[in-house]
Amino acid sequence: MSIISKDISKAVALLNSEELVAIPTETVYGLAGNIYSEKAIKSIFETKQRPLFNPLIVHIPSVEYLSKIVEYIPEKAKLLAEAFWPGPITLVLKKKNSIPDIITADKDTVAVRIPNHSLTLELLNNLSFPLAAPSANPFSSISPTTAQHVENYFKDNIKMVLDGGACKSGIESTIIGFENEEPVIYRLGSTPIEAIEDVVGKIEIKNKKEISPEAPGMLERHYAPKTKTILTSNLSKSIEEYSNKRIGILVFNDVLNDDAIEFKVVLSESKNLEEAAFKLYDALHQLDKQDLDIIIAEKLPDYGLGKSINDRLKRATK
Ligand code: TXA
Ligand code: MG
Repeated sequence: MSIISKDISKAVALLNSEELVAIPTETVYGLAGNIYSEKAIKSIFETKQRPLFNPLIVHIPSVEYLSKIVEYIPEKAKLLAEAFWPGPITLVLKKKNSIPDIITADKDTVAVRIPNHSLTLELLNNLSFPLAAPSANPFSSISPTTAQHVENYFKDNIKMVLDGGACKSGIESTIIGFENEEPVIYRLGSTPIEAIEDVVGKIEIKNKKEISPEAPGMLERHYAPKTKTILTSNLSKSIEEYSNKRIGILVFNDVLNDDAIEFKVVLSESKNLEEAAFKLYDALHQLDKQDLDIIIAEKLPDYGLGKSINDRLKRATK
């Protein structure tokens, strides 16, 4: 029987009984549980086979709620919250003592966001606690952007996926930490860096080696298909190199035809980066099902969401 359902009251009941529910957000589906239930939180880590050193994002219903979770809000964090919430920005701030250490992997900071999805906002407003929710995929595999993707991963492990359709943005939130009051990007994501700079000025991106293990979303191998995957700026050369293999390609808008290609996904015929982000993970899920020898992904333009997509593709190829 399918675990996919649109029944919010069922989701509320399960979460109130310390069970997990997969929830839709504008970025990817999350595997959610009550942040104050040790049982639920342990079950998130077990279900995902996620190492305990990797902290979770706390999802709250409103900006006012933030002061219940964090000790201190820097001025630029307020600006970002006002500009982008509800939406795909996660702020890493000094946590209140009441936030359980298992959520934050013993750090003194906590990651928080307000998701921009009407069903999940309604759900949060019907609960007396916030929801911890990592992406609803086994550790290091491709993130889910439809209820079906989640069911394929976890139908034997969880009781319900709240069906909110396909995630509109399609890649995870942008994670921002604060160092001496100044924002720093820990993970590129659905909110383009240029939009963030319009609000808070020039912002630094800290790569994995500088911040590890601050944001293991920055782990080198992550978001990865099972099929060997490479990223290239020279598609025809890469295709030639693997011409004796079963090749799948993932391209931005190119309509290149080549007999050597077994399966092809075009992310946006009109070269629209938002459309490409929306389709990215579903494309990887599809390619991974084709029994290919290799997936050749083409690098996208390196600005706006293209930068965030390239970041995910790089990690998919490690
Ligand atoms: O869009 C999203 O952010 C989705 C949806 C479901 O909200 N969630 C998501 O969660 O991507 P997850 O667990 O797959 O990625 C959360 C990232 C991890 O890389 C984690 O290390 C980082 O957030 N993180 C969490 N707490 C942190 C903290 N206190 N300091 C630094 N990084 C933190
Ligand atoms: Mg994830």
